[in-house]
Parts: sequence; C-alpha cells; structure tokens
Amino acid sequence: MCGIVGFVGKDNAVHKLIHGLKTLEYRGYDSAGVALLQDNDITVVKDKGRIANLENILNYEELTGTIGIAHTRWATHGIPSKDNAHPHMDPHHHFAVVHNGILENYLELKDFLLSKGYSFVSETDSEVIPILMEYYYEQEKDVLKAFKKTLKDLRGSYAILVISPLLPNTILVAKKNSPLVIGKGKDGIYAASDIPAIISYTKDFYFLEDGESAVIDDEIHFYDSEFKEIHKDSKTIHWDMSAIDKNGFPDYMLKEIHEQPDALKNSLNGLDHPVGFLNFSLDKKYLESIREIYIVACGTAMHAGLVGRYAIEQICRIPTRVEVASEFRYQNPIVDEHTLCIFISQSGETADTIAALKLAKKLGAKTLTITNVFESSITREADYTIYTHAGPEIAVASTKAYISQVGMMVALAIYIAELLGKNQSEVAQIKKELLELPSLMKQVIDKNQEYLKIAKKMVSVQDLFYIGRGNDYHVAMEGSLKLKEISYIHSEAYQAGELKHGPIALIEDGTFVFGIITDPKLSEKTLSNLEEVKSRGANVVLVTNEDIKEDIVIPIPKTNTLLSPILAIIPLQFVAYFIAKEKGLDVDKPRNLAKSVTVE
Ligand code: F6R
Repeated sequence: MCGIVGFVGKDNAVHKLIHGLKTLEYRGYDSAGVALLQDNDITVVKDKGRIANLENILNYEELTGTIGIAHTRWATHGIPSKDNAHPHMDPHHHFAVVHNGILENYLELKDFLLSKGYSFVSETDSEVIPILMEYYYEQEKDVLKAFKKTLKDLRGSYAILVISPLLPNTILVAKKNSPLVIGKGKDGIYAASDIPAIISYTKDFYFLEDGESAVIDDEIHFYDSEFKEIHKDSKTIHWDMSAIDKNGFPDYMLKEIHEQPDALKNSLNGLDHPVGFLNFSLDKKYLESIREIYIVACGTAMHAGLVGRYAIEQICRIPTRVEVASEFRYQNPIVDEHTLCIFISQSGETADTIAALKLAKKLGAKTLTITNVFESSITREADYTIYTHAGPEIAVASTKAYISQVGMMVALAIYIAELLGKNQSEVAQIKKELLELPSLMKQVIDKNQEYLKIAKKMVSVQDLFYIGRGNDYHVAMEGSLKLKEISYIHSEAYQAGELKHGPIALIEDGTFVFGIITDPKLSEKTLSNLEEVKSRGANVVLVTNEDIKEDIVIPIPKTNTLLSPILAIIPLQFVAYFIAKEKGLDVDKPRNLAKSVTVE
C-alpha cells in the first residue's frame, strides 16, 4: 500500500521525488523518506508523519543528488516511526532500499542475517532487503549478482527500488505482485508504484510483469525472472492532469462527489453500441453456457457488486453471487469453465482481488475486470477489462468510482440480456433510465445544503444505523461504510427485516436511523421496521423517492429500482462528508486507511 518513486538523471532529484510522493500520499501517509546518491555516499532523510512533515526537515540546498528514491508508508510491520520509515539501509550504507509489499519470509531471512552478525534498526520486513544485498555483496563483490541473489530469496510481494554508491548513476528495480511502472522523460528516467507520481514528467511508460527486474542508468535494461535481458515496448498514456487538481473545492472528496454525474456519463459513453462500450464482445454461445456468475471485490467495490448482482439476476436471470475477495480463495469456490467471474476494483491493484482472479482463472473460469485505472495490474491478469471512466479518484473514500462501478455493472447486465434476448422491453426501459441518471444526480447534489443541516444534528453521536430492503440495503451498506471511514463514528447497516432478530436491542432514545426506501414493493415493510425503531426512541431520517411523511425526509427523484442506489447514495455520501468536516477531520486521508490496498 506504500508509494514509491525514483529518479535517475541530470537534474536535482529531490524536488521530483517530493512531487511524486505528494501524488502518492493516498497510498499511505504515516511516514515518509528520501535517499539520494551524492558525494559517493547515500544521504537519507526520513521521519514519522506526512510528506509535509518530511518537507519541513529537508535541507534542499544540501540535497543536490541527481539520483534518488523515496517512499510514503502505510505501516504493516512495525509502528509508524522514524526507524521504521523507508528508505532502509544496510549497516555499511552500501544500499538504500524502498519497498512496497510484504515479505512473507522476512523472519526466516532476518534470523539468517542475525546469525551472520548483522543487526537491524527497524521492525519492518523491508529492512532485510538491503542487508541481504550487503551479505551477498560481501561474497560476490558484484552489486548485480547480489541483487539477483537477493531477489531469488524473497517470498511475498514487492516493488523495490535500490540505489548504491557502488553502482553510481543507477537504480535497480524489481517487481512481484506489487505495481511498478518506469517512465522515460526528457530529463531522466523515473520509476514509481503508480503513474500519477511521474505523469507530469513523461507520457511513455514501461510496465514490469511479476518477476521482472530492471537496471536503470542512462538506459533501461529489462530482465525476466531468470535475469535474461528482454525487450519491452513503451506505452503512451495521455491523462488529463487537471483531473488531479482540487479545482477550487476544499477537498478531493467533495470535488469527486460533485463529479459523479460526469463520471457516470463518461463511463456509459457508447452504451448504445455494445462493442464500442465494452471494447470486446462476449460470445452468445459462451453466455448461454454460463451456469453462474461470481462477482468478487472488496469494500465499496463489493457494494457495487451487490447492486450489479441484483441487476444481473433481475434482467438476465443468471444465478449470481457476490463474494468478498479476501474470503474467496478460502471457500473452495465452485468455479469452472461454466462460471463467469467478475472482479471489480477501482485501483486495479487490490491484492486480495487480484489473488482471487488468479484462482478463478486457474479453475477454468473466464475472468472480467471492471476497473478505473488504465493498465493497472488487474487488467493484465483478466481475460476482459471494462474501464470505468470516472477519472482519477484521489480521496481515500470512494465516491465517483462507486457510482461508475454500479453504472457499469448495470450496463453489463443490459449487454448480457440484450445478447441473450431476455426481457427486451424492460431492458430497453432500464437503459433509457440509466442514460438519464446524470441529470437526476445533479438535482440530488444541488440540495447538498439540506444534507449539511441533517449532518449537523449527528456530529456528536456514538452510533448510527442504516436500514433498507433489497437494493436499498446495498445503499445502506455503502452509506454506513462511508460514515465509518471518514467520520470515525461507529455505524451498522442491516436488512430492515433483520433488526428485530437482535440489533434492535441497540436502539435507544435519540439513536439516529437512516431508512432507505426506493422500491415501492418493499416500502410498506421497511416503513413498519422504521416504526419499530421509532417506538423505541430512534430518530428516523428517510431517504426516499416516495411521498412518505417522516420527521426528516431526504427526497430523491424516482428511477428504476435497479438504478436507485446511484441516486440514494449521494445524500449519504454528503452526510458522511459533512459530519467529518464538522468534526474537523481530514476527509481525504482518514486515519489507518490507504487508497490502494496492495497487501492481503
Ligand atoms: C471505501 C473504499 C474501499 C475500496 C476497497 C477496494 O471507500 O474505497 O473499501 O473500495 O479497498 O478497493 P479497489 O476498488 O481499489 O479494489
């Protein structure tokens, strides 16, 4: 989950590294550091805290090196502290290393190195890398051989950058199960965990596959997992850099909530032309042979999957189940060539989702991913990729990516139903309403000051509940997750009918309960459940597209039930946002979280 960036060139490196780290801060922000090669030595500056803190302690005048590496951390092994911050070095300061990933065999390697007399200063798994390199260097007196031997010993996931005064003008790079890109700019060569870190310097990118490594000096030399030199072609990536500005909004999250109508519109572009929209076509015979669809994802993406399942089952009548990616592998899933497995991931880098995809492929299923990030790791594993065109999502809490994922899942259901010739008039109507949603979303967004008033009533509550039935329950889950993530208020989402089987014991005088009602078939039943909590003292806030009297009502426009989550979630996103702001919290970088979860 950490962010890494490196530069080899003729210009001063530190400014480029700090710029890169700032764009990567969403990957982790509990400590940060840089290492530069200068005066035939390695200079390391690092500290606990955010990148702004690192900037405060950097003495730019003294940091003149033109080769360097940098890291922003999301702690896994060891607390956030200066010692645990990267870059890490060996005791002789021959090697400085930044690492993203987790080394599964680090204890074994550490014991081995301790037995050889080496000492460690951090509690991290990553520190074994420079020390192992030093161990092999002492034997081989050859940095590249030491690097290769070190890589052979590592088990787990890694994207690694190494600098060494023993190999001036060079960065060593390796990747396995963690993202890594290399970019060739006019002023030098860059390496980073993510494209945004270096996109302002280059548009030409090389993507390393798992097990590959590279030696970067004036040129880039690529190697396969057996260290045979290989050739790679670059890919040109054009990104709109203005998308990563706040554009006058105080936070990325608020900006991204406002961008949702455009995000959906862009994602659905071409829906009337299935092949253009999907950039691939699924064979009708294949679709007819599918016995079951699995949708696998984590967190918010999994919530989008739940709405997707609803759509697929309703209009395609194909049995569909949704699984949390971190559990999928341990369930001995019943998956074969008659299963279509769909993996949803905004970042395209989520370790659990990618691992689940690899298993599904091994079991013979066709795999399709829905992701927002061009050329992300998951796209290179999946048989088919559908891009959501939500634009870069920077705030840790997902909003516009969720909306686009839901939109794409419904669009996929429409596509499958059309191909199979199922429920044609209903499908045509849903398609029409889906395309109308962006303008209805704007109406919901425009009422945000109403949501602020409601949020203000909840700033000091300890618990909040969200209930709904059917698709409304899926909205409840996502609303509850948004609140937890950014306001740190405990909240629960329940199927409205399930409350009386236990959780209703938690309702007391003054407890706020959000009810979501957008399905006329279910409204009477959910209303009864809201009466049950009211008679136990709860304050009900109702999000609905029906004409229902309640103390606090958030009205939203009517749309098809399969689509209503796209409208109903917006007030809940705003409420979570406003509560967090009222509490003075950093909404874009909530505590303990990171945007891209590349550890299992
Ligand atoms: C919540 C959130 C997370 C992600 C989850 C999966 O706001 O963003 O729950 O949805 O970590 O991430 P991706 O979609 O990148 O696989």
